[in-house]
Amino acid sequence: MSKSFDVIVIGAGPGGYIAAIRAAQLGFHVACIDEWSNAAGGPAPGGTCTNVGCIPSKALLQSSEHYEHAVKHFGEHGISLKDLKMDVAQMIGRKDAVIKQNNDGILYLFKKNKVTFFHGRGSFVQTVDGGYEIAVTGSKPETLTGRQIVIATGSSARALPGAPFDEINILSNDGALRMGAVPKRLGIIGSGVIGLEMGSVWRRLGAEVTVLEGLPTFLGAADEQIAKEAKKAFDKQGLKIELGVKVGEITSAKKGKQTQVGVAYIDAQGAEHKLEVDKLIVSIGRVPNTAGLNPEAVGLQLDERGAIVVDGDCKTNLPGVWAVGDVVRGPMLAHKAEEEGVAVAERIAGQHGHVDFNLIPWVIYTSPEIAWVGKTEQQLKAEGVKYKAGTFPFLANGRARALGDTTGMVKFLADAATDEVLGVHIVGPFASELIAEACVAMAFRASSEDIARICHAHPSLSEATKEAALAVDKRTLNF
Ligand code: FAD
Ligand code: NAI
Repeated sequence: MSKSFDVIVIGAGPGGYIAAIRAAQLGFHVACIDEWSNAAGGPAPGGTCTNVGCIPSKALLQSSEHYEHAVKHFGEHGISLKDLKMDVAQMIGRKDAVIKQNNDGILYLFKKNKVTFFHGRGSFVQTVDGGYEIAVTGSKPETLTGRQIVIATGSSARALPGAPFDEINILSNDGALRMGAVPKRLGIIGSGVIGLEMGSVWRRLGAEVTVLEGLPTFLGAADEQIAKEAKKAFDKQGLKIELGVKVGEITSAKKGKQTQVGVAYIDAQGAEHKLEVDKLIVSIGRVPNTAGLNPEAVGLQLDERGAIVVDGDCKTNLPGVWAVGDVVRGPMLAHKAEEEGVAVAERIAGQHGHVDFNLIPWVIYTSPEIAWVGKTEQQLKAEGVKYKAGTFPFLANGRARALGDTTGMVKFLADAATDEVLGVHIVGPFASELIAEACVAMAFRASSEDIARICHAHPSLSEATKEAALAVDKRTLNF
């Protein structure tokens, strides 16, 4: 006998669990199915984000930043430490505890909102009268029927051809987040978001890190001026980033008790090299998870990348079937998945859920942090939009000086005629938090003058935002 629900959500990552909660808030009888298991075999809802993504990476970035501060900067504050040591096992244990708090938090939220959770794999069986039959396979097999189905099955790391992940020497994000010791030499393929964040963690702890990037430009999606500033800072820190390389064969060979990974590559000038490392992280993008869904059973349409085809409202080609997050087009970000999850639940309820793709912020949690929202200068030029730019360096900000972190700047781009803010780009301390003001400003279609006229607390990093807004009109007060 199958159990019936108004809404069945497959996947409990940020897209799925948020969709399930919002649908329950709107009065629907909701089930959520997720197959992720913790080390003890129990449920671990939260998806990539909670288990091997956003949360654990930020935990390790925090630990490694504390360590680097203690080694390099405590002296400036008059603090001296004897016998400073890094206990990697403790750091990984703390990260795992943070993950568990988040897994438990989601299970609590499901209970609170009366979402029925099933631990196992969800897949389509067939179309039935008024909905779909979904099989749950796992320790407790079940058959469910749902009137509306929301697919939020996320994504997995893409491997290089001929170099599958063994999570011992050739690592995806998963292995990169649970190395038991600091590798002496760490290679990374891809200087995207994961490459920079994971490279920063292990460099801070003492690894010699080399990043090989296929494209000739660094962080092509970011504003060029900001990317250049960030690259300067990473070079200074000793993160070796080689651009425009062509990666060839990847080999593993035993050297004594250790396995060494060799990466053959051709540099931007055409010279052949072989990089020898103890561990290799491959972070070259991610592929949508659809294999376990049995999409053929109901004729669900996928594109050539294996992503589920959806329209602007996250509707698939099947009536009553929606898809959100990493498994569909658009940026692979947790907050984008969440926004789509909320919007879909509201559309199912007949409301007008909406996601503004121009207002999805990007944050890279390196040091300096990099964050932006809206258009880059190169995009505005390509689109022929007339704009004014204003920048303000953290060097001239009192709070940044007191923090001892004056790298970077805030940059505003505003429409030349109307002064509407079109993009805000930040490289520097707490860029991840500062960018929220820009999102709010742009959502309310503020002008740069609006921001410049708002009182910002002193001393605060947010004064750099106000000053960058003033810079659009060439009237900074502190620079
Ligand atoms: P996921 O989080 O991948 O969740 C999908 C869930 O569905 C998983 O639990 C999976 O097991 C389950 N599932 C799949 N198939 C089935 C099935 N058939 N049946 C049942 N369950 C199934 N984004 C940010 O915004 N900020 C960050 O700081 C950030 N850091 C990241 C760091 C790393 C190292 C990585 C890898 C990613 C990071 N991301 C970050 C990206 C972010 O994790 C993803 O964009 C986000 O998790 C996507 O959410 P989702 O719900 O679409 O999918
Ligand atoms: P990415 O798309 O950010 O970067 C991949 C990089 O690898 C690109 O620069 C690309 O040019 C390069 N590349 C691709 N193939 C290559 C090859 N064969 N040789 C050399 N270089 C190659 O992907 P990444 O870092 O794997 O992260 C996946 C996604 O996860 C991100 O796009 C982002 O959406 C999400 N994420 C978000 C974070 C955040 O918001 N702070 C943190 C980490 C991940």
